[in-house]
Amino acid sequence: MTAKLSPSMMCAGIGALTDALQGFQAAGAEYLHIDVMDGVFVPNYTLGTDYIRQLRALTAIPLDIHLMIERPEDKVAWFDPRPGEYVSVHTESTPHVHRALSRIREAGAKPMAALNPATPYKIIEHLLDDIDAVLIMTVNPGYAGQALIEATLPKIRGLRDWLDASGYQHVEIEVDGNVSFENAKRMRAAGANLFVAGSSSVFAHGLTVREGMERLRKAVAL
Ligand code: DX5
Ligand code: ZN
Repeated sequence: MTAKLSPSMMCAGIGALTDALQGFQAAGAEYLHIDVMDGVFVPNYTLGTDYIRQLRALTAIPLDIHLMIERPEDKVAWFDPRPGEYVSVHTESTPHVHRALSRIREAGAKPMAALNPATPYKIIEHLLDDIDAVLIMTVNPGYAGQALIEATLPKIRGLRDWLDASGYQHVEIEVDGNVSFENAKRMRAAGANLFVAGSSSVFAHGLTVREGMERLRKAVAL
């Protein structure tokens, strides 16, 4: 499965937003990762509906919207998901995850189930026909700049093998959290193909986003 990069826009400073977008455009970023936090499901607030609306006016790169909010099934439409875009919802965030995923599909976008580090991947067993991808959190959601939880590496491998053995080879695996150049290589080897690039890679100090993208692409090349 082709490796794709999704830079995390919560790591792009407002002052450097235009430069970052130009860098991502030039480097061929496949998606822009948008972290939406509601201060309830996770202990932080980040990007929201107005940000997304304004960002769409600045770039044609499709979005990869990560909803870390309670009751996402009632709110999917607020984000105006477009065909070709991903929207992820956490299985831990609602008793109605199937409904939330269906709303994403109805909007024409690609539904993705997101799992916190401690959530076993088999929780999605009865959702496999309803998703195009699984997001494995490799840190606890809420903040950039945290350290990788090592137990998530065998989890990625286990999920990839289980999907392949169950006839779901087309379901993609995204990784989010401390996707450094070194960790990205290990995540790729474990079976991930979508990489959220944050403060550990493309927004790391001492290199431009363009350089960071090139280095990350090399790290995940098989
Ligand atoms: C949360 C975010 C963070 C972050 C990733 O969902 O997506 O995980 O921006 O970047 P790092 O972990 O490299 O700071
Ligand atoms: Zn995220």
